[in-house]
Amino acid sequence: MKTIILGIESSCDDTSAAIIADGILLSNVTANQDVHRAYGGVVPELASRAHQQNIIPVVHEAMERAGVLPKQLSAVAFTRGPGLMGSLLVGTSFAKGFALSLNIPLMDVNHLQGHVLAHFIQEQGVTFSPPVFPFLCLLVSGGNSQIVLVKSHHEMEIIGQTIDDAAGEAFDKCAKVLGLPYPGGPVIDRLAKEGDASAFTFSKPQIKGYDYSFSGLKTSFLYTIRDYLKENSNFVEERKNDLCASLQSTIIEILMGKVRKAASDLQIHEVAVAGGVSANSALRKAFIEHGEKYHWNVYIPKFAFTTDNAAMIAITGYYKYLNGQFCDISLPPFSKTTID
Ligand code: KG4
Repeated sequence: MKTIILGIESSCDDTSAAIIADGILLSNVTANQDVHRAYGGVVPELASRAHQQNIIPVVHEAMERAGVLPKQLSAVAFTRGPGLMGSLLVGTSFAKGFALSLNIPLMDVNHLQGHVLAHFIQEQGVTFSPPVFPFLCLLVSGGNSQIVLVKSHHEMEIIGQTIDDAAGEAFDKCAKVLGLPYPGGPVIDRLAKEGDASAFTFSKPQIKGYDYSFSGLKTSFLYTIRDYLKENSNFVEERKNDLCASLQSTIIEILMGKVRKAASDLQIHEVAVAGGVSANSALRKAFIEHGEKYHWNVYIPKFAFTTDNAAMIAITGYYKYLNGQFCDISLPPFSKTTID
């Protein structure tokens, strides 16, 4: 009999459901929430309401696309946290109710562990070459920037993390300064393609070890713009592409500097990237170039598995299922924590 896992993700503003059978992805359906665009960021209460509207159709669609009936499911995996409490409650409550009604086990999944294990999602007809343990994973999203030492599917250690803003937050907040829509990361990525990355210099943090900081860069970006605007009120409009390219390359230099240090100190040549910011085209290119230069085997997720998705929750749930790591129905979601 096949092991069939339903994965549910609702940590922020994407409602997603996926089906994995014996480790192979059969479906991955995500409903995005456009309602937040007008507000320049995710509004928790609106996100929660949209999850309530989306969860049943999204799960239904995922099951239908996979050709799986509820009675065939072996277990349900859900994102327990970190994330927005109101959003998490919708996915968590649905997962519990569904598992209870089918009398099947539940697995709680840490969203960040899910991002890392996205590298283990197998698709039919697609060559599967996951990272070899132990490997390093740069996990960069809207809420996190971490370097994770991944020892097994179940054992991960954060060796470095941001002490203030996350890389995605730096993209989004600087995009806001430029008057760009939310989320700003993909827009900066697009505009940077036509810009000169050496046009402007922004400050870089001097932090020991593998930790990150992006708040100084954000301030330096803001002050640079403020100073140029005094001379030319059209400055942002005229130099938007160069500003985006320079900002993006500074963020990538900061990120890659610590990954290089960790790989060299720990003598690890298996290096992966994960999380929403790993969709960035220049960061993906930097990983490939580093792989060639430093003889790393690099692992870059498919675009669909970079931002929030339930496939990564289902695959993490699958490994937990194989390991017998089930959770109790009384387990509450959590909003803030690290991968540990
Ligand atoms: O992982 P994710 O979908 O959500 C969580 O934060 O958990 O990441 C969202 C973040 C946002 O900050 C968004 O601006 C950023 O990922 N992002 C990008 C790109 N695509 C998404 N940042 C830079 N370049 C991109 N192409």
